Amino acid sequence: MRVGVLTGGGDCPGLNAVIRAVVRKGVQEYGHEFVGYRDGWRGPLEGRSVPLDIPAVRGILPRGGTVLGSSRTNPLKAENGIRRIKDTLARQEVEALIVIGGEDTLGVAARLSDEHGVPCVGVPKTIDNDLSATDYTFGFDTAVGIATEAIDRLHTTAESHMRVLVVEVMGRHAGWIALHSGLAGGANVILIPEQRFDVDQVCAWVTSRFRASYAPIVVTAEGAMPKDGDLVLKDGTLDPFGHVRLSGVGEWLAKEIEKRTGEEARTTVLGHVQRGGTPSAFDRWLATRFGLHAVDAVHERDFGTMVALRGTDIVRVPIAEATARLKTVDPGLYEEAGVFFG
Ligand code: F6P
Repeated sequence: MRVGVLTGGGDCPGLNAVIRAVVRKGVQEYGHEFVGYRDGWRGPLEGRSVPLDIPAVRGILPRGGTVLGSSRTNPLKAENGIRRIKDTLARQEVEALIVIGGEDTLGVAARLSDEHGVPCVGVPKTIDNDLSATDYTFGFDTAVGIATEAIDRLHTTAESHMRVLVVEVMGRHAGWIALHSGLAGGANVILIPEQRFDVDQVCAWVTSRFRASYAPIVVTAEGAMPKDGDLVLKDGTLDPFGHVRLSGVGEWLAKEIEKRTGEEARTTVLGHVQRGGTPSAFDRWLATRFGLHAVDAVHERDFGTMVALRGTDIVRVPIAEATARLKTVDPGLYEEAGVFFG
């Protein structure tokens, strides 16, 4: 069988580990051939592909990013998008697609598979860890590790100057990175998109931390919102899936803290550093296992499914189930962290 592979959406560490596992098992065990599509859905849309064989995937396991490139191209918005994708697959005699992506990329895969008969198998990825139906997505553990290291480093400089350090991490709709790195790094305030925050309460925690003669570290997700305000946007632009571009809540909050408490505050925005570089051992392990199981699903022609982690098992679920709603932070989990605030 000839199988296409694509990586779409924001990149994340571990994408290459999936590609390698898919190709290694697919060629060695099943005798399949692979075609790599460039830049997410843009590849099959525009017929842009590269050969993908065992020599092409040698040495890529520890490499960040994706050797196939990525984009947020939405083929459902392109003129004759579905027809063009079908034509590319037919022309290249590709009988199945392995789609490695998050909510948006997999949302397209679910529609193509369920409504238009394009045989897709999904692999969940995102540093945000906000995909339903899987306990974890790969990329998340690496991002949390990077954010935690940054918080550790910020503690010492914050204490030398006795100032507030606000750390802004990624997380548009879900506060998983903020919550996990904030707990792991011993933050004094953690703010997540799921719970609107009260600036006065944040200032009270900051003040109480100074009273104990320590400098406060405030971790905020980029999508966190004050009770009486709105999302802080980078600019007014939308991506092809209609998402606003965030960033700025950290800077805004640092100014508010300075104004209201009289304490000096600085902001560090971690941004794309969280998505770059080599994957953690956990993410390599998870991505590799996802790849092995995705190629099994293709071999068994179990299309419209996505591989998912449940406990330590890899299972298959309908792609549509994973993209129907976002996995957000449960209020109880957030409350648990409150012991360390202030
Ligand atoms: O979806 C993953 C993510 O990293 C989000 O956390 C973040 O808001 C967004 O992508 C940034 O997207 P871009 O790559 O367009 O800057």
